[in-house]
Amino acid sequence: MSKKSLFIAIEGLDGTGKSTIAKLLSYFIQNTLEKNVKLTFEPHDPSCGGLFIRQILEKKIRNFSNETLMTAFAANRLDHCNREINTWLSKENSMVICDRYYLSSLVYQSSEKHPFEAVMKINEHATKPDVTLFMNASNEVCYQRMDIRNKPKELFEEGLTETREKYLNAIQYLQEVKNEKIQIVDASGSIKEVLERVVNVISDEFSDHIKAQLTSAVKEYEIPSSNIFSLDGEIPDLRTSVIEKITTNKGLTTDNVNEIVKTELDTLTFTDKGVLFLNYLENLGYNIGEKCSWTSLDSYNIEYTLPGGLTQKGKALLINENQRYDVILGTASQLAELEKMSDFMFIFNPGPSDLITKFYERDIIESTKDQSFLFPNIQQITEQNLQEFLVKELV
Ligand code: TYD
Repeated sequence: MSKKSLFIAIEGLDGTGKSTIAKLLSYFIQNTLEKNVKLTFEPHDPSCGGLFIRQILEKKIRNFSNETLMTAFAANRLDHCNREINTWLSKENSMVICDRYYLSSLVYQSSEKHPFEAVMKINEHATKPDVTLFMNASNEVCYQRMDIRNKPKELFEEGLTETREKYLNAIQYLQEVKNEKIQIVDASGSIKEVLERVVNVISDEFSDHIKAQLTSAVKEYEIPSSNIFSLDGEIPDLRTSVIEKITTNKGLTTDNVNEIVKTELDTLTFTDKGVLFLNYLENLGYNIGEKCSWTSLDSYNIEYTLPGGLTQKGKALLINENQRYDVILGTASQLAELEKMSDFMFIFNPGPSDLITKFYERDIIESTKDQSFLFPNIQQITEQNLQEFLVKELV
């Protein structure tokens, strides 16, 4: 197996399904090659200037200059590279898949005043991707897919024909002037078909042996159902099977138990981690009830019986690994509703543990007007907690 790290950028017009493909590709590669895959995106909300950029895209900030925005994207990217992408790429056997990268800046920030050269100059310290994929689909397909998404149009979501043309010009520039590797992938058809095309193209980056492995695996690959980040129905006991799997691992010792558990956790999908989170709460004595049907969030009613027979009611909530500011804020307003109805709440957020309580604090408090819901009765559970939970069972 190749131990080299690989950096893939995925680009495309809005509505080409590039975010879905980026997610699927990362799961597929993780499962097939057991690489350490990091899926990330730009604009990167947790990096420098992320909040400013998101508020411009959502038209909340209107009086800005294009130059400022171009500089903000470049600063956002450099910070993203320094603190996340490069760190990840320096690990052995790793891969980074980034949903949008500097090709987007060439397309959306270039102008007569700031031609491609100027945009690339300001992005000169950003890490160069090994390969960039441009997902291409007809306007009809893009519009159909955007309607499904059903959210207000963002700043750059209009003028597909013009944008496609800019993409093609920018691609030609990067290929000819910067010697970059860019592949145009047909994004029409079923998700499976598109994934196959993508895997085909990126398999060129690997040895013949791995290439063959990838091509045959993608044919067999079953696309997870649309709610890949969702749990429904009875909660299985995943804890027992994960522990069994780990205990049959011949090399397990008290010294390496942490590492082995972490490796095992890394192979789980978000949904599986969510199941483990609910198993964790059960282990603490909470009863897991029905899924809350009135909210689109993955949340469950839970109960705790106190010694005198009194019961307290709460919620267990799962947030997927998405760190996008607009998604987090959308979640926050629903969270406020949930919190009003509970004595306590557990949130499973596998991302950075301080994301909700610190990074977005200002907006979350504003979004609830006079009521702050950042009470100590909300407890965040992260992947680290799940790791400790499993380790305790094993030593
Ligand atoms: P977003 O809603 O985060 O993602 P997507 O539309 O890919 O699902 O929107 C990203 C927007 O940011 C998109 O309209 C293009 C724009 N953008 C730039 O203008 N310059 C850039 O460098 C990047 C990365 C994005």
